[in-house]
Amino acid sequence: MAQDGVDSMGINTRLAHSGNNPHDYFGFVNPPVVHASTVLYPNAAAMAARSQKYTYGTRGTPTTDALAAAIDALEGSAGTIMVPSGLAAVMVPLLAFLSCGDHVLIVDSVYHPTRNFADTMLKRLGIDVEYYDPHAGAGIASLIKPNTRVVFTESPGSNTFEVQDIPAIAKAAHAAGAIVMMDNTWATPLYLRPLDHGVDISIHAATKYPAGHSDVLLGTVSANAACWKQLCETFNTMGCCAGPDDVYQVLRGLRTMGVRLDHHQRSALDIAGWLEGQKGVARVLHPALPSHPDHGLWKRDFRGSSGIFSIVLAGGGQKQQHALLDALKIFGLGYSWGGYESLAVPVFLGDRTIAKGPYDGPLIRLQIGLEDVDDLKTDLARGLAAAASA
Ligand SMILES: Cc1ncc(COP(=O)(O)O)c(C=O)c1O
Repeated sequence: MAQDGVDSMGINTRLAHSGNNPHDYFGFVNPPVVHASTVLYPNAAAMAARSQKYTYGTRGTPTTDALAAAIDALEGSAGTIMVPSGLAAVMVPLLAFLSCGDHVLIVDSVYHPTRNFADTMLKRLGIDVEYYDPHAGAGIASLIKPNTRVVFTESPGSNTFEVQDIPAIAKAAHAAGAIVMMDNTWATPLYLRPLDHGVDISIHAATKYPAGHSDVLLGTVSANAACWKQLCETFNTMGCCAGPDDVYQVLRGLRTMGVRLDHHQRSALDIAGWLEGQKGVARVLHPALPSHPDHGLWKRDFRGSSGIFSIVLAGGGQKQQHALLDALKIFGLGYSWGGYESLAVPVFLGDRTIAKGPYDGPLIRLQIGLEDVDDLKTDLARGLAAAASA
């Protein structure tokens, strides 16, 4: 933590003041954006021993150190790496801890490109990939094999928002000598600190809420003390560092993430609750709603909810789904989330083997942005009317 005592303060104070210490750099409030490959050494002995803080651009700069320190303070982690996208943040730790002949358990409601990486690259490298039910909880023990090295979780799950019993999963995994990784992008470390719940490695698409403006791609991976060395060694071996401008933009985004998330949370809950009462909506898949089957687990472990959830239409198919999407005027049709603007996407569950329903009708995922709630409700009402008459 950059400034004495900030660690024990409120979350918005910490977001405003963590990472860099302005007085390390002439008092400028923000850290320098260091564009670097070469770092000079004062003499041959220092070069041979690499006995200085910075040695080469891929291995860290004052800019990456500032963001890593801020994220470590939020996550309670021993170290954080920054990579060029959220998907790279999924890939690097899996490559760091899995070898040919190992078995990995991945939650079935995982972000689709994570599944694609596992089904293509990991399988090609000789790793046994198996998907588990997001509601497995302690029962995951029955799936663990002698060669299980990693359990990969994402909670709530992508698109269908099942909440997992992370402490129970971590207990079973650790008892068998496996480690637990969690894609924690939905909650951010403000609403869930995975390492406090037994997770070893916390993964974020910082592209989403930390960046917050749909203009940056970045991933972060934070490890506990036991896993940090191996994660960092793999990161250095691969040379997949993030660019300094993107790292800086995410640190900039962190300063306002608390107030933005609070707004996303309130608007999303208001709209989700309203949608539950709308004709044409069979279910709203938002874990902070009391009607959600995993609401109890969410309440036990999470400190808040973010701005993305799904709705299930009351019957119909792709025609109704497309009619709703095409009628929207404020919600954009586009992938990703966590930015200031509202988005809607059709949900595809064809890749799932376990967490695939049945659902009453097609699913649509909504990212609730920072616009005024009444305007967003008007837009959604227009979409539901279009679906009803399709
Ligand atoms: C849960 C989750 N993890 C990871 C990612 C990947 O992030 P990026 O778009 O930065 O590759 C996404 C992107 O949508 C996501 O939803």
